Amino acid sequence: MSPLSAILASLLVANGAFAAPAVIARETPSGFDPNSYQKQFVQCNAVERSGLTPQNITLKLGYLDINPTAKKTIVMVHGWPSLWTTYRNQIEAFGSEYRLIIPENRGYGDSEHPKDLYSSNTMGDFVNDIECMMDNAGVASGVCMGNDFGAQVCWEAGLLSPNRFKGVFNVGVPFISSAREFKTNEQFSQVAPNLGYTFYLSNNATGASKEMDADPRSAIRACAQIAATVPPHDFLSSKTSFLEPWNEWEKENNVTTIPFSGIMSQEVEDYMVESYQKQGFFNTYNGYQANNRLETYLNQKKLGKTSLSQPAFVLFPTRDPVANWHDWSLQEESYKYLANFYNATTPSAHWAHEELPEEFNLHFTQWIGNVTFDA
Ligand SMILES: *[C@@H]1O[C@H](CO)[C@@H](O)[C@H](O)[C@H]1NC(C)=O
Ligand SMILES: *[C@@H]1O[C@H](CO)[C@@H](O)[C@H](O)[C@H]1NC(C)=O
Ligand SMILES: *[C@@H]1O[C@H](CO)[C@@H](O)[C@H](O)[C@H]1NC(C)=O
Ligand SMILES: *[C@@H]1O[C@H](CO)[C@@H](O)[C@H](O)[C@H]1NC(C)=O
Ligand SMILES: *[C@@H]1O[C@H](CO)[C@@H](O)[C@H](O)[C@H]1NC(C)=O
Repeated sequence: MSPLSAILASLLVANGAFAAPAVIARETPSGFDPNSYQKQFVQCNAVERSGLTPQNITLKLGYLDINPTAKKTIVMVHGWPSLWTTYRNQIEAFGSEYRLIIPENRGYGDSEHPKDLYSSNTMGDFVNDIECMMDNAGVASGVCMGNDFGAQVCWEAGLLSPNRFKGVFNVGVPFISSAREFKTNEQFSQVAPNLGYTFYLSNNATGASKEMDADPRSAIRACAQIAATVPPHDFLSSKTSFLEPWNEWEKENNVTTIPFSGIMSQEVEDYMVESYQKQGFFNTYNGYQANNRLETYLNQKKLGKTSLSQPAFVLFPTRDPVANWHDWSLQEESYKYLANFYNATTPSAHWAHEELPEEFNLHFTQWIGNVTFDA
């Protein structure tokens, strides 16, 4: 533990709002330097749906291509508020055996986005972006690894392009088939109250981005928590603010910043803050918009796509403040629509692959034998 972490650990114990003992996650992997990785860029076709008729546009998108001579590929898709660096432990573990294609999703960092947030960013649009990156890299197929809304992108990739995505390996978010009834963000937040923030990010993207742009580090830290740290009880459930519950908590605890959980190194956090400062938060809410979500569902319906036949695995964190994803997966009967499905649980908060990387990586190496890669 670095001296800084030790100070923060004692702070966490002293203020009492975090469940003791305040175990600080290991800063893994040590020495990971995001700035030493070079992004590739590609112009991708996309659709701007803000006007009366859809317009074809191109977006310049960034991605990482690590170990490009390996035969087997893992595409690693990040969620929110996150970045490609969320896979730093997996880059270290799998980056010499596999080729890794790691998108910087549209609207994040150096990746462009359509002008319109609300209806030009369906899950199919995200999948198109990834396929465009794979085309540019000359990668025919691979497995899709995702977490948070990146997991939804991987489900969509497996659903729409089974020939390119030979397997799906996800954290948390269960597969919800279009054979089920569509649920709005508001309905979701009734099932899982801590999904209230998705309603806020959809209904008040302007207000949300104002809050977060004023304090990107807090927006990131608020979410980058671990099982041993307990966020304020109304964090994530609020439909009118994202940071207000933490601001209150800071006042009550006489501190001026959200404690650093240690799930990432300071260097990685700084890199994330700088990335979010490039374009602001507004366009990173693209995966949560009511219209984009509905269009995604309607498109699946239209195509009659309800299930996946390729191998799929979900690792369900049991201490995720966002939701009890495992129960939800059972409620939605995900297993009925996944012909080759495995799942397991892990005692982490939201970011299992960051908090308990050894467990996550072991699950992946045990599962990957199910996947038939292209020769
Ligand atoms: C936009 O692109 C699609 C798919 O490539 C094509 O079918 C369509 O004709 C294009 N529309 C316009 C207005 O160029
Ligand atoms: C949107 O969010 C901002 C910031 O939290 C808030 O001040 C504003 O009242 C909200 N607007 C609506 C319509 O909810
Ligand atoms: C809050 O912090 C200030 C500055 O360190 C200190 O003077 C004050 O006593 C603290 N108050 C409480 C209630 O801990
Ligand atoms: C995994 O999925 C099956 C359904 O296919 C379910 O019965 C089981 O309880 C799930 N959870 C775990 C942790 O294996
Ligand atoms: C398929 O995945 C399961 C779950 O990880 C694993 O136990 C099993 O050994 C895998 N099968 C093959 C053939 O690799």
